[in-house]
Amino acid sequence: QKNIGILTSGGDAQGMNPCVRAVVRMAIARKCRPFFIYEGYQGLVDGGDKIKQAKWTDVSGFLTSGGTMIGTARCKEFREIEGRRTGVYNLIKKGIDALVVIGGDGSLTGADKLRAEWPDHVAALEKDGRISKEDANKYRTLMIVGMVGSIDNDLASTDMTIGACSALERICESVDAILSTAMSHQRAFVVEVMGRHCGWLALNAAISTGADYLFIPEAPPKDDWEESMCKTLKASRDAGKRTSLVIVAEGALDRNLNPIKPDYIKDILSTRLGYDTRVTILGHVQRGGAPAHFDRFLGTMQGAEAIEAILRATPDTPSPVIGMLENKITTQPLKEAIELTGQVAQAIESKDFARAMALRSASFSK
Ligand code: F6P
Repeated sequence: QKNIGILTSGGDAQGMNPCVRAVVRMAIARKCRPFFIYEGYQGLVDGGDKIKQAKWTDVSGFLTSGGTMIGTARCKEFREIEGRRTGVYNLIKKGIDALVVIGGDGSLTGADKLRAEWPDHVAALEKDGRISKEDANKYRTLMIVGMVGSIDNDLASTDMTIGACSALERICESVDAILSTAMSHQRAFVVEVMGRHCGWLALNAAISTGADYLFIPEAPPKDDWEESMCKTLKASRDAGKRTSLVIVAEGALDRNLNPIKPDYIKDILSTRLGYDTRVTILGHVQRGGAPAHFDRFLGTMQGAEAIEAILRATPDTPSPVIGMLENKITTQPLKEAIELTGQVAQAIESKDFARAMALRSASFSK
Protein backbone atom coordinates (compact mmCIF):
# COMPACT_ATOMS: atom_id res chain seq x y z
CA GLN A 1 0.00 0.00 0.00
CA LYS A 2 1.63 3.20 -1.19
CA ASN A 3 1.35 6.62 0.41
CA ILE A 4 1.01 9.18 -2.37
CA GLY A 5 1.47 12.92 -1.85
CA ILE A 6 -0.19 15.35 -4.25
CA LEU A 7 0.54 19.01 -4.72
CA THR A 8 -0.27 21.79 -7.18
CA SER A 9 2.46 24.31 -7.92
CA GLY A 10 3.16 27.53 -9.83
CA GLY A 11 0.32 29.51 -11.41
CA ASP A 12 -3.05 27.89 -10.88
CA ALA A 13 -4.97 26.55 -13.88
CA GLN A 14 -8.56 25.47 -14.38
CA GLY A 15 -8.63 21.68 -14.30
CA MET A 16 -6.14 21.30 -11.44
CA ASN A 17 -9.00 20.46 -9.06
CA PRO A 18 -10.48 17.74 -11.28
CA CYS A 19 -6.97 16.32 -11.55
CA VAL A 20 -6.44 16.31 -7.76
CA ARG A 21 -9.84 14.66 -7.36
CA ALA A 22 -8.95 11.89 -9.80
CA VAL A 23 -5.59 11.25 -8.13
CA VAL A 24 -7.21 11.01 -4.68
CA ARG A 25 -10.07 8.76 -5.75
CA MET A 26 -8.00 6.52 -8.02
CA ALA A 27 -5.42 6.14 -5.25
CA ILE A 28 -8.12 5.05 -2.81
CA ALA A 29 -9.68 2.73 -5.40
CA ARG A 30 -6.25 1.12 -5.91
CA LYS A 31 -5.80 0.66 -2.13
CA CYS A 32 -3.24 3.42 -1.70
CA ARG A 33 -3.34 6.35 0.75
CA PRO A 34 -3.41 9.84 -0.85
CA PHE A 35 -2.07 12.86 1.03
CA PHE A 36 -2.78 16.52 0.23
CA ILE A 37 0.29 18.73 0.33
CA TYR A 38 -1.07 22.25 0.75
CA GLU A 39 0.36 25.40 -0.90
CA GLY A 40 2.61 23.62 -3.40
CA TYR A 41 6.28 23.12 -2.52
CA GLN A 42 5.81 25.48 0.43
CA GLY A 43 3.74 22.73 2.07
CA LEU A 44 6.60 20.27 1.54
CA VAL A 45 9.03 22.64 3.20
CA ASP A 46 6.66 23.53 6.07
CA GLY A 47 5.51 19.93 6.73
CA GLY A 48 3.29 19.39 9.82
CA ASP A 49 -0.40 19.90 9.12
CA LYS A 50 0.40 21.06 5.55
CA ILE A 51 0.64 17.34 4.67
CA LYS A 52 -2.62 15.62 5.47
CA GLN A 53 -4.25 12.34 4.46
CA ALA A 54 -7.13 12.86 2.02
CA LYS A 55 -10.44 11.01 2.13
CA TRP A 56 -12.78 10.24 -0.76
CA THR A 57 -15.25 12.94 0.33
CA ASP A 58 -12.52 15.59 0.74
CA VAL A 59 -12.57 16.11 -3.02
CA SER A 60 -16.34 16.43 -3.41
CA GLY A 61 -17.08 19.48 -5.55
CA PHE A 62 -13.56 19.59 -7.00
CA LEU A 63 -14.64 18.48 -10.48
CA THR A 64 -16.44 21.71 -11.33
CA SER A 65 -14.43 24.30 -9.43
CA GLY A 66 -11.69 26.60 -10.73
CA GLY A 67 -8.30 27.41 -9.20
CA THR A 68 -6.74 24.85 -6.88
CA MET A 69 -8.46 24.01 -3.60
CA ILE A 70 -5.22 22.69 -2.07
CA GLY A 71 -3.45 25.96 -2.79
CA THR A 72 -0.34 26.82 -4.75
CA ALA A 73 2.68 29.06 -4.28
CA ARG A 74 5.86 30.06 -6.01
CA CYS A 75 8.20 28.84 -3.24
CA LYS A 76 11.65 30.49 -2.92
CA GLU A 77 12.89 28.12 -0.20
CA PHE A 78 12.39 25.08 -2.43
CA ARG A 79 14.82 26.60 -4.93
CA GLU A 80 17.57 26.25 -2.31
CA ILE A 81 19.13 22.87 -1.52
CA GLU A 82 18.32 23.21 2.22
CA GLY A 83 14.64 23.81 1.43
CA ARG A 84 14.51 20.69 -0.70
CA ARG A 85 16.28 18.67 2.02
CA THR A 86 13.66 19.78 4.55
CA GLY A 87 11.01 18.70 2.04
CA VAL A 88 12.59 15.25 1.79
CA TYR A 89 12.66 15.00 5.60
CA ASN A 90 8.97 15.94 5.85
CA LEU A 91 7.97 13.42 3.18
CA ILE A 92 9.86 10.61 4.93
CA LYS A 93 8.39 11.56 8.32
CA LYS A 94 4.90 11.27 6.80
CA GLY A 95 5.82 7.96 5.13
CA ILE A 96 5.19 9.24 1.58
CA ASP A 97 6.65 6.99 -1.14
CA ALA A 98 5.43 8.73 -4.28
CA LEU A 99 4.69 12.30 -5.22
CA VAL A 100 2.31 13.67 -7.84
CA VAL A 101 3.09 17.23 -8.97
CA ILE A 102 0.67 19.26 -11.08
CA GLY A 103 2.30 22.44 -12.37
CA GLY A 104 4.04 24.26 -15.19
CA ASP A 105 7.53 23.61 -16.54
CA GLY A 106 9.25 25.41 -13.63
CA SER A 107 7.41 23.27 -11.09
CA LEU A 108 8.13 20.08 -13.01
CA THR A 109 11.80 21.01 -13.33
CA GLY A 110 11.84 21.35 -9.53
CA ALA A 111 10.22 17.92 -9.22
CA ASP A 112 12.82 16.34 -11.49
CA LYS A 113 15.63 17.94 -9.50
CA LEU A 114 14.16 16.62 -6.25
CA ARG A 115 14.10 13.13 -7.60
CA ALA A 116 17.67 13.31 -8.91
CA GLU A 117 18.95 14.63 -5.58
CA TRP A 118 16.82 12.33 -3.42
CA PRO A 119 19.50 9.68 -2.54
CA ASP A 120 21.97 12.42 -1.51
CA HIS A 121 19.37 14.08 0.72
CA VAL A 122 18.49 10.76 2.34
CA ALA A 123 22.18 10.00 2.99
CA ALA A 124 22.73 13.47 4.48
CA LEU A 125 19.65 13.22 6.71
CA GLU A 126 20.81 9.84 7.99
CA LYS A 127 24.33 11.16 8.61
CA ASP A 128 22.90 14.08 10.61
CA GLY A 129 20.81 11.64 12.64
CA ARG A 130 17.55 13.25 11.50
CA ILE A 131 16.26 9.96 10.10
CA SER A 132 17.02 6.38 11.16
CA LYS A 133 19.08 3.88 9.16
CA GLU A 134 15.88 1.89 8.75
CA ASP A 135 14.09 4.87 7.16
CA ALA A 136 17.11 5.62 4.98
CA ASN A 137 16.89 2.07 3.59
CA LYS A 138 13.14 2.14 3.23
CA TYR A 139 13.00 5.48 1.36
CA ARG A 140 15.98 5.05 -0.94
CA THR A 141 14.11 6.41 -3.98
CA LEU A 142 11.05 8.55 -4.56
CA MET A 143 8.73 8.10 -7.51
CA ILE A 144 7.58 11.45 -8.91
CA VAL A 145 4.87 11.80 -11.52
CA GLY A 146 4.29 15.14 -13.24
CA MET A 147 1.20 16.53 -14.92
CA VAL A 148 1.22 19.82 -16.76
CA GLY A 149 -1.22 22.25 -15.20
CA SER A 150 -0.78 25.57 -16.99
CA ILE A 151 -2.95 27.79 -19.14
CA ASP A 152 0.07 28.53 -21.37
CA ASN A 153 0.15 25.18 -23.24
CA ASP A 154 3.91 25.48 -23.36
CA LEU A 155 5.19 22.01 -22.49
CA ALA A 156 6.61 19.89 -25.29
CA SER A 157 5.34 16.49 -24.17
CA THR A 158 1.63 17.07 -24.60
CA ASP A 159 -0.78 18.47 -27.16
CA MET A 160 -2.71 20.25 -24.41
CA THR A 161 -1.86 21.28 -20.87
CA ILE A 162 -4.52 21.23 -18.16
CA GLY A 163 -6.15 24.70 -18.12
CA ALA A 164 -5.27 25.88 -21.63
CA CYS A 165 -8.69 25.05 -23.09
CA SER A 166 -10.59 26.87 -20.30
CA ALA A 167 -8.37 29.94 -20.60
CA LEU A 168 -8.92 30.01 -24.35
CA GLU A 169 -12.69 29.78 -23.83
CA ARG A 170 -12.52 32.73 -21.43
CA ILE A 171 -10.42 34.74 -23.90
CA CYS A 172 -12.91 34.06 -26.71
CA GLU A 173 -15.88 35.08 -24.53
CA SER A 174 -14.08 38.27 -23.52
CA VAL A 175 -13.04 39.17 -27.06
CA ASP A 176 -16.58 38.49 -28.34
CA ALA A 177 -17.84 40.94 -25.73
CA ILE A 178 -15.21 43.52 -26.71
CA LEU A 179 -16.12 43.15 -30.39
CA SER A 180 -19.76 44.05 -29.85
CA THR A 181 -18.86 47.39 -28.30
CA ALA A 182 -16.02 47.89 -30.83
CA MET A 183 -18.48 47.39 -33.67
CA SER A 184 -20.91 49.97 -32.31
CA HIS A 185 -18.19 52.66 -32.19
CA GLN A 186 -16.15 51.48 -35.19
CA ARG A 187 -13.15 51.17 -32.88
CA ALA A 188 -9.91 49.24 -33.01
CA PHE A 189 -8.94 47.07 -30.04
CA VAL A 190 -5.55 45.71 -29.09
CA VAL A 191 -6.05 42.75 -26.76
CA GLU A 192 -3.16 41.30 -24.77
CA VAL A 193 -3.44 37.67 -23.71
CA MET A 194 -1.33 35.61 -21.30
CA GLY A 195 0.97 32.73 -22.20
CA ARG A 196 4.34 33.88 -20.81
CA HIS A 197 6.87 32.96 -23.57
CA CYS A 198 4.39 30.89 -25.55
CA GLY A 199 2.06 32.13 -28.28
CA TRP A 200 -0.43 29.25 -28.20
CA LEU A 201 -3.24 31.15 -26.46
CA ALA A 202 -2.79 34.20 -28.69
CA LEU A 203 -2.62 32.19 -31.92
CA ASN A 204 -5.71 30.15 -31.12
CA ALA A 205 -7.61 33.19 -29.85
CA ALA A 206 -6.78 35.07 -33.06
CA ILE A 207 -8.07 32.23 -35.24
CA SER A 208 -11.18 31.76 -33.11
CA THR A 209 -12.19 35.41 -32.91
CA GLY A 210 -11.27 36.47 -36.45
CA ALA A 211 -8.50 38.89 -35.46
CA ASP A 212 -6.95 41.10 -38.14
CA TYR A 213 -3.38 40.86 -36.84
CA LEU A 214 -1.44 38.72 -34.37
CA PHE A 215 1.86 38.95 -32.50
CA ILE A 216 3.48 35.86 -30.92
CA PRO A 217 7.03 35.26 -29.66
CA GLU A 218 7.74 32.25 -31.89
CA ALA A 219 7.05 34.10 -35.14
CA PRO A 220 8.13 37.74 -34.89
CA PRO A 221 6.88 39.98 -37.71
CA LYS A 222 9.11 41.35 -40.48
CA ASP A 223 10.94 44.62 -39.76
CA ASP A 224 8.35 46.75 -41.61
CA TRP A 225 5.48 45.26 -39.59
CA GLU A 226 4.00 48.63 -38.62
CA GLU A 227 3.32 49.44 -42.26
CA SER A 228 2.10 45.96 -43.10
CA MET A 229 -0.25 45.92 -40.09
CA CYS A 230 -1.76 49.27 -41.10
CA LYS A 231 -2.27 48.08 -44.69
CA THR A 232 -3.97 44.88 -43.55
CA LEU A 233 -6.32 46.64 -41.14
CA LYS A 234 -7.18 49.35 -43.66
CA ALA A 235 -7.97 46.75 -46.32
CA SER A 236 -10.47 45.13 -43.93
CA ARG A 237 -12.11 48.45 -43.18
CA ASP A 238 -12.24 49.28 -46.88
CA ALA A 239 -14.00 45.98 -47.44
CA GLY A 240 -16.72 47.04 -44.99
CA LYS A 241 -15.54 45.78 -41.58
CA ARG A 242 -16.52 48.14 -38.72
CA THR A 243 -13.87 46.98 -36.23
CA SER A 244 -10.18 46.15 -36.11
CA LEU A 245 -8.80 43.56 -33.73
CA VAL A 246 -5.14 42.95 -32.92
CA ILE A 247 -4.21 40.13 -30.54
CA VAL A 248 -0.84 40.33 -28.88
CA ALA A 249 0.74 37.62 -26.74
CA GLU A 250 2.24 39.00 -23.53
CA GLY A 251 5.61 37.58 -24.59
CA ALA A 252 5.48 38.96 -28.18
CA LEU A 253 8.83 40.02 -29.65
CA ASP A 254 10.16 41.69 -32.76
CA ARG A 255 12.97 40.15 -34.82
CA ASN A 256 15.58 41.81 -32.61
CA LEU A 257 13.93 40.21 -29.58
CA ASN A 258 12.54 43.52 -28.27
CA PRO A 259 9.08 43.22 -26.67
CA ILE A 260 6.10 44.39 -28.74
CA LYS A 261 3.70 46.09 -26.34
CA PRO A 262 -0.02 46.86 -26.81
CA ASP A 263 0.34 50.61 -26.15
CA TYR A 264 2.88 50.93 -28.95
CA ILE A 265 0.51 49.13 -31.35
CA LYS A 266 -2.31 51.41 -30.22
CA ASP A 267 -0.21 54.53 -30.95
CA ILE A 268 0.52 53.29 -34.48
CA LEU A 269 -3.15 52.63 -35.19
CA SER A 270 -4.22 55.99 -33.77
CA THR A 271 -1.56 58.11 -35.43
CA ARG A 272 -1.15 56.39 -38.82
CA LEU A 273 -4.75 55.29 -39.42
CA GLY A 274 -6.62 57.73 -37.18
CA TYR A 275 -8.56 54.86 -35.56
CA ASP A 276 -10.16 55.36 -32.18
CA THR A 277 -8.14 52.59 -30.47
CA ARG A 278 -8.39 50.99 -27.03
CA VAL A 279 -6.15 48.50 -25.26
CA THR A 280 -7.52 45.64 -23.13
CA ILE A 281 -5.16 43.52 -21.06
CA LEU A 282 -7.22 40.48 -20.18
CA GLY A 283 -5.00 39.49 -17.22
CA HIS A 284 -5.95 36.97 -14.57
CA VAL A 285 -9.57 36.66 -15.67
CA GLN A 286 -8.09 34.14 -18.15
CA ARG A 287 -7.00 31.86 -15.32
CA GLY A 288 -10.14 32.13 -13.21
CA GLY A 289 -13.55 30.51 -13.15
CA ALA A 290 -14.85 27.01 -13.68
CA PRO A 291 -12.91 24.55 -15.86
CA ALA A 292 -14.31 23.89 -19.34
CA HIS A 293 -15.45 20.34 -20.17
CA PHE A 294 -12.12 19.45 -21.77
CA ASP A 295 -10.05 20.35 -18.71
CA ARG A 296 -12.36 18.36 -16.43
CA PHE A 297 -11.90 15.41 -18.77
CA LEU A 298 -8.17 15.85 -19.27
CA GLY A 299 -7.49 16.35 -15.55
CA THR A 300 -9.53 13.27 -14.68
CA MET A 301 -7.97 10.96 -17.27
CA GLN A 302 -4.44 12.08 -16.48
CA GLY A 303 -4.97 11.94 -12.71
CA ALA A 304 -6.14 8.33 -12.99
CA GLU A 305 -3.17 7.47 -15.22
CA ALA A 306 -0.76 9.06 -12.71
CA ILE A 307 -1.71 6.45 -10.12
CA GLU A 308 -1.32 3.62 -12.63
CA ALA A 309 2.13 4.98 -13.57
CA ILE A 310 3.15 4.94 -9.89
CA LEU A 311 1.94 1.38 -9.42
CA ARG A 312 3.72 0.21 -12.60
CA ALA A 313 7.04 1.86 -11.77
CA THR A 314 10.19 0.09 -10.63
CA PRO A 315 13.03 1.94 -8.81
CA ASP A 316 14.73 2.37 -12.22
CA THR A 317 11.74 3.88 -14.04
CA PRO A 318 12.53 7.52 -14.92
CA SER A 319 10.04 10.04 -13.49
CA PRO A 320 7.23 10.30 -16.01
CA VAL A 321 5.09 13.18 -17.15
CA ILE A 322 1.54 12.32 -18.10
CA GLY A 323 0.35 14.06 -21.25
CA MET A 324 -2.00 13.68 -24.18
CA LEU A 325 -0.86 13.15 -27.74
CA GLU A 326 -3.23 12.58 -30.64
CA ASN A 327 -6.11 12.07 -28.22
CA LYS A 328 -4.35 9.39 -26.20
CA ILE A 329 -3.17 9.72 -22.62
CA THR A 330 0.61 9.25 -22.66
CA THR A 331 3.43 8.62 -20.19
CA GLN A 332 6.87 9.96 -21.15
CA PRO A 333 10.12 10.74 -19.32
CA LEU A 334 9.76 14.05 -17.49
CA LYS A 335 13.40 14.97 -18.08
CA GLU A 336 13.04 14.75 -21.87
CA ALA A 337 9.89 16.86 -21.84
CA ILE A 338 11.65 19.59 -19.86
CA GLU A 339 14.71 19.49 -22.14
CA LEU A 340 12.64 19.70 -25.30
CA THR A 341 10.66 22.63 -23.90
CA GLY A 342 13.93 24.41 -23.06
CA GLN A 343 15.03 24.09 -26.69
CA VAL A 344 12.17 26.37 -27.79
CA ALA A 345 13.53 29.20 -25.64
CA GLN A 346 17.03 28.54 -27.01
CA ALA A 347 15.74 28.65 -30.61
CA ILE A 348 14.04 32.01 -29.97
CA GLU A 349 17.16 33.40 -28.27
CA SER A 350 19.26 32.44 -31.27
CA LYS A 351 16.60 33.91 -33.61
CA ASP A 352 15.92 30.55 -35.23
CA PHE A 353 12.18 31.20 -35.37
CA ALA A 354 11.39 28.41 -37.84
CA ARG A 355 12.89 25.93 -35.38
CA ALA A 356 10.95 27.48 -32.49
CA MET A 357 7.67 27.00 -34.37
CA ALA A 358 8.60 23.45 -35.41
CA LEU A 359 9.52 22.50 -31.84
CA ARG A 360 6.30 23.91 -30.44
CA SER A 361 4.31 21.51 -32.56
CA ALA A 362 6.71 18.58 -32.26
CA SER A 363 6.14 15.60 -30.06
CA PHE A 364 8.48 12.79 -29.24
CA SER A 365 5.97 10.00 -28.86
CA LYS A 366 6.95 6.78 -30.45
O1 F6P B 1 2.06 30.54 -16.38
C1 F6P B 1 0.75 30.98 -16.22
C2 F6P B 1 0.66 32.47 -16.21
O2 F6P B 1 -0.70 32.83 -16.10
C3 F6P B 1 1.30 33.16 -17.42
O3 F6P B 1 0.47 33.12 -18.56
C4 F6P B 1 1.54 34.54 -16.87
O4 F6P B 1 2.62 35.17 -17.52
C5 F6P B 1 1.88 34.28 -15.44
O5 F6P B 1 1.36 33.00 -15.11
C6 F6P B 1 1.36 35.30 -14.45
O6 F6P B 1 1.86 34.96 -13.20
P1 F6P B 1 1.32 35.61 -11.85
O7 F6P B 1 -0.03 35.02 -11.57
O8 F6P B 1 2.33 35.22 -10.84
O9 F6P B 1 1.21 37.08 -12.08
